Amino acid sequence: MQFRHLDITPPLLLAPMAGLTHSALRTLLLSYGGVGLLSTEMLSARSLPVESEQASPFLVRTPGERPLCYQLLLTGDEEVAPAMEALHRFGADGVDLNLGCPAPRVRKAGGGSALMDDPDRVRSLVRRVRCSTALPLSAKIRLGETLDEEKLVNFCRMLEGEGIDLLTVHARLRGESFSRKPRWPWVARVKAAVSIPVVANGGIFSVDDARRCLDQSGADGLMIGRAAAHFPWLFALLAREIYGRDIPEPDVCPPVAFGRFVSALQARFRPERRLGRIKEFTHYLAVNYPFGHHLATAVQSARSVEEAWRVAMDFFRRCDMEGVGRLEEEAGGLDLPADRYRSGGLK
Ligand SMILES: Cc1cc2nc3c(=O)[nH]c(=O)nc-3n(C[C@H](O)[C@H](O)[C@H](O)COP(=O)(O)O)c2cc1C
Repeated sequence: MQFRHLDITPPLLLAPMAGLTHSALRTLLLSYGGVGLLSTEMLSARSLPVESEQASPFLVRTPGERPLCYQLLLTGDEEVAPAMEALHRFGADGVDLNLGCPAPRVRKAGGGSALMDDPDRVRSLVRRVRCSTALPLSAKIRLGETLDEEKLVNFCRMLEGEGIDLLTVHARLRGESFSRKPRWPWVARVKAAVSIPVVANGGIFSVDDARRCLDQSGADGLMIGRAAAHFPWLFALLAREIYGRDIPEPDVCPPVAFGRFVSALQARFRPERRLGRIKEFTHYLAVNYPFGHHLATAVQSARSVEEAWRVAMDFFRRCDMEGVGRLEEEAGGLDLPADRYRSGGLK
């Protein structure tokens, strides 16, 4: 799939997710392979110019995290030039405009899905962004406020006309919760209306889901959100089974995923930035076990990274000794908090 001058192979994109899509999760995903385009979480265009790449947990990244698309949360024309200047400085490979976030706080500030209510404002913003960069530029939208094909299609054609290179459609209305079945056939309506690549997003948790989504949407690519944290090996499975990529079969092992994630956090996040991110990630990873809520709850109540690590290891030892053994094999190469695995062996 072509995203301006970027070749996205396979056409599997990581969704921007606040609190989740940071350097540690991206590094974990890269360890399995299969991701065509990585993403940051949404970044406020207003604060971007004054943030430091080294200090900000939203911006920190390693050179291996590529190609990386930066998602911008824009509210006003005056924010465009300084924000784009910052993104060029950070070495963004692409820029995504958040036009779909339904969070009341974001809408109140005039950003996210509030922008879809005002196509003229979006036109002006996109025009400015397009004039300020030669980088690949995408927009991520929901289906709108109500099901209105004409309005949706006109909006998407306007985006294409203003120079958007790729469109991601989260197949739900603005007010619909994640528990609602996504409306993949509506992505097909967008696809039929524009010539730029269209990526389908929402509700893809397995290879079967991905196949059904592609069938129903005819999309050029898929964007995976929550499943990236539930099953970080999913991109590799999709890349192999749907796109025939010749990459190693992923090691489906939650303790190993947990170890790699914690290690990446330790390596490049300040201590006070680690615990919250471990809690957020564990909440998702825990679905891999029938009694995973015990894991999520224990980590949730931890007061330090060391305690979170200890209670997670206690859980894994009770429920997944084979997984612990595999983590043990890898532990020597990881930067882990507790001393039990320091030397690569269970002490
Ligand atoms: C915790 C969380 C944070 C999110 N943050 C963002 C965000 O920063 N920007 C955005 O465009 N969408 C955000 N989303 C929406 C996702 O990008 C995606 O559209 C949604 O989760 C549906 O895809 P999925 O079913 O694969 O998870 C977020 C979703 C979750 C669950």
